[in-house]
Amino acid sequence: SDIGKGTYPFYMLKEIDEQPTVMRHLISTYADANGKMKVAPEIVESVQKADRIYIIAAGTSYNAGFGAKTMLEELTNTPVELGLASEWGYDMPLLSAHPFFIFLTQSGETADSRQVLVKVNELGLPSLTITNVPGSTLSREATYTLLIGAGPEIAVASTKAYTGQIATLAFLAKAVGEAEGNTKAFEFDLVTELSLVAQSIEATLSEKEKIGEIVAKNLLTTRNAFYIGRKQDYFVAMEASLKLKEISYVQCEGFAAGELKHGTISLIEKGTPVIALISNNEKVALHTRGNVMETVARGASAIIIAEDGASRADDDIIVNAVHPYLSAISMIIPTQLIAYETSFQRGLDVDKPRNLAKAVTVE
Ligand code: G6P
Repeated sequence: SDIGKGTYPFYMLKEIDEQPTVMRHLISTYADANGKMKVAPEIVESVQKADRIYIIAAGTSYNAGFGAKTMLEELTNTPVELGLASEWGYDMPLLSAHPFFIFLTQSGETADSRQVLVKVNELGLPSLTITNVPGSTLSREATYTLLIGAGPEIAVASTKAYTGQIATLAFLAKAVGEAEGNTKAFEFDLVTELSLVAQSIEATLSEKEKIGEIVAKNLLTTRNAFYIGRKQDYFVAMEASLKLKEISYVQCEGFAAGELKHGTISLIEKGTPVIALISNNEKVALHTRGNVMETVARGASAIIIAEDGASRADDDIIVNAVHPYLSAISMIIPTQLIAYETSFQRGLDVDKPRNLAKAVTVE
């Protein structure tokens, strides 16, 4: 299998580059030649019976759950609640009458997540593990499994598993939505839209040099930074900041842009990098731009990552537009490259950041 890193200096960059392939692989795994969903009917039926979907995960997988939350809710017409595995392992909160649990886990071995699954099994509740590792512990112990099929992820910082998890959830969401007769699910042409996502990723990957320059100018000496965004962009900001933190050791917060003024804006100093995520959502794009101005007025160095449709000519990075349900996938790509470049240019071991393990099998 392809577990060498070839000419790449680090696995992380190789894995970032593999993401268009991961998207296309998922299309061929979960859709047939006519674009019909190929998700096991027993999984679809089990989700259909649920009055609430609980997604349990840790780290990047938790952020991936948020990246898919809105799409999953709108297509399945079922509320989605996210739970941090390390918090849910103690006492289950009050559950709905008919819960369905989804365990998002790249490795399928995270002890915190497994601990929650053990409780779910004790309660006799249905569960689905979405994982990159066939035969992994959480896959074996859950009622059902969907594989991401992203190929081995070696770098500690997860990239293709994040985007692969969101895409896998898209197939599940559409399959359930169609079974429910939800018009929105039929109208969402996932095969076409995910192909466009793959192309959008490729376009961003061709901007590595430019992103390297942005990093050189803004992120090489700073001790802290912010990612801001609203709605879906806020969820992406959470993952973008985790990526930067874990491999570059820059203290970074992912913030809901509108919350800055309620406290955090006091941290902005001359030169503090504020990276704004502005996807093509007309309800929020201008509001986020307003927040950028507020931080710039206090000395911040703003970097704007905008999606085509909401972008302006002088934005720093422009991402090709995709379907709003899938924007977390395309918007995360430049932030993965920012994290990679920051770590690389600081001379750090990108693939093996200090204090971290790829799979954490202790609670
Ligand atoms: C570890 C890894 C993270 C990962 C988290 C959850 O902390 O360093 O990259 O997001 O575990 O892992 P999982 O395999 O459950 O997705």
